[in-house]
Amino acid sequence: MGNKMWGGRFADGPDAIMEAINVSIDFDQRLARQDIAGSRAHAQMLSDSGIISSDDLAEILKGLDQVEQELVNGTFPFRRDLEDIHMNVEARLRDLVGPAAGRLHTARSRNDQVATDFKLHVRERLEAFDEGLKELQTVLVDQAEQHTDTVMPGFTHLQTAQPVTFGHHCLAYVEMLARDRGRFQDAHARAGLSPLGSAALAGTSFPINREQTAKALGFDGPTRNSLDAVADRDFVLETLSAASICAVHLSRLAEEIVIWTSSQFNFVRLPDKFSTGSSIMPQKRNPDAAELVRAKPGRIIGALNSLLIMLKGLPMTYSKDMQEDKEPAFDAMDALDVAIAAMTGMIRDLTVNKDAMRASAGTGFSTATDLADWLVRELNMPFRDAHHVTGSLVAAAEAKGCDLDGLTLEEMQQAEPKITAEVFDVLGLDNSVKSRTSFGGTAPDNVRAQVAYWREQLS
Ligand code: ARG
Repeated sequence: MGNKMWGGRFADGPDAIMEAINVSIDFDQRLARQDIAGSRAHAQMLSDSGIISSDDLAEILKGLDQVEQELVNGTFPFRRDLEDIHMNVEARLRDLVGPAAGRLHTARSRNDQVATDFKLHVRERLEAFDEGLKELQTVLVDQAEQHTDTVMPGFTHLQTAQPVTFGHHCLAYVEMLARDRGRFQDAHARAGLSPLGSAALAGTSFPINREQTAKALGFDGPTRNSLDAVADRDFVLETLSAASICAVHLSRLAEEIVIWTSSQFNFVRLPDKFSTGSSIMPQKRNPDAAELVRAKPGRIIGALNSLLIMLKGLPMTYSKDMQEDKEPAFDAMDALDVAIAAMTGMIRDLTVNKDAMRASAGTGFSTATDLADWLVRELNMPFRDAHHVTGSLVAAAEAKGCDLDGLTLEEMQQAEPKITAEVFDVLGLDNSVKSRTSFGGTAPDNVRAQVAYWREQLS
């Protein structure tokens, strides 16, 4: 027998292979809640506009409540021969309330329906990402507050560069996440118009009220062009683009956690609940969660690529290709969700090994720039000359096997006779970080001010 929903002109049912390639219910059942919300809004509007009777409306709403209950209870009888969530819900409605169900699809198509459902879903996910990232920012600010004065090596090329504070380092990520949140909020705002009522592609001859359904579903208003409305998946592309950037940020932090927890660095310790053991090496505490956060961009960027490639060159308007948008998008959004949650847990619970950070910050001539700056400031040397003198002192220290403050004054004066004992003041780590008072610099007072700024922003 042909498909009951659209099978009027077909003599035979679909080939098994046709069903296998066409079916989407296995994954689009995740849109059930949005599908029911859309149907409620649509049915109410049809009745308010005099397109269906209030009796039919009552039957439809009663039936949709039952369908929703079945979905919540896990008793909803999903049928693969009904292809997707839209037809599954409608067919079940017909089983439950009879002919009134057949009026629900008046002035509607699965094309505007799927665009609406997916947009509603994506909007919810965007809100959740924003909330999740706010939480992650908060735990980073908590760590920053604890560690405004904790000295660590700052790196370029993963080579010790200049001492910074751990608080400053944490706040760098707070800034990145703020931009991520901005991108998610922008995507949410641009996904603010409802496709519902665009019907298959051309709109409808029924006197529908699209403002009403848009408002009922929490949109700002209806889309202005029915062709664009059913063809548009920008809201998914934008979400996955923003998600990709965010995942890259999380991945960079994850990589730092992997490095910091190594016994070679030993800068931080993850609690047991975020570490795993090895089945053979009893000493191991592996940062698996951080490694998995580091890996997630693979799936997320992959999903963005799949969707871009799937959409490129598609003619107006809806093509079945677009059904392929959901699996990668769901997978990517789930991946970002869990990555944000795992990162939040790790940052909240990690403990900092201040001694190891400080000891490491003191190696690698990390205050060489402070020495050069001192020569400029106190001896009025041009910076390039100061850079050269400092370089020769680094070489001298390296030959002697000590750090810069391990050189004697006499040894320093061999490179530059005017150097005085005051130079040792800037060679200490704390002096170095305290001196970085330029706006945005790592000085503990700056970091305290930035912690206060973020507390205010996040409250
Ligand atoms: N399952 C389809 C999708 O996810 C719904 C829209 C189908 N529309 C159509 N005319 N075949 O894209």
